[in-house]
Amino acid sequence: MTYRKWAYGDIFAVAELEKQCFSDPWSFQMLADTFINDRAATLAAEEGGRIVGYGFCVTAGEEADLANIAVDAGFRRRGIAAELLRRLEGEARAAGARRMFLEVRVSNAAAMMLYLRAGYVGRYARPRYYGDGEDALVMEKKL
Ligand SMILES: CC(C)(COP(=O)(O)OP(=O)(O)OC[C@H]1O[C@@H](n2cnc3c(N)ncnc32)[C@H](O)[C@@H]1OP(=O)(O)O)[C@@H](O)C(=O)NCCC(=O)NCCS
Repeated sequence: MTYRKWAYGDIFAVAELEKQCFSDPWSFQMLADTFINDRAATLAAEEGGRIVGYGFCVTAGEEADLANIAVDAGFRRRGIAAELLRRLEGEARAAGARRMFLEVRVSNAAAMMLYLRAGYVGRYARPRYYGDGEDALVMEKKL
């Protein structure tokens, strides 16, 4: 498994995985915008020339926001998301962040377990945060 920053051409694969993993996927354009945002840190997990996982975060001052993280269904439970998260936290810390925040759907047990295990704590709920009306739990970790 290789971990590296996104190349522009990766966005097609990332957008495709977004569609597979989320009911409200980031669009190609939203993903492309990470290349003109110098506060965004992107990371891809690549196996045999194929993107099997990805994530990115945005740092603003002492706070960073984990925008997204996902792993291809055929590659889950191998520690890929945990490694992506660990590396993105390192990038955010290097950019000056002292805390990482994220939002997770209250029904997303897999993601919540991932974040709890990585040391995140639940802070508060954002009622009806998602387009379909589901609540988000905001989680935080001191970096
Ligand atoms: C959530 C997601 C990113 C986890 O990716 P992953 O590579 O399988 O996660 P890891 O293998 O690194 O798991 C690390 C730990 O998280 C927890 N975890 C991950 N998936 C889990 C699941 N389905 N059920 C329970 N715990 C889980 C476990 O504690 C796991 O450690 P373990 O395997 O040693 O028990 C993946 O399921 C995914 O892409 N889901 C769809 C997209 C998504 O929901 N992203 C998060 C948005 S907030």
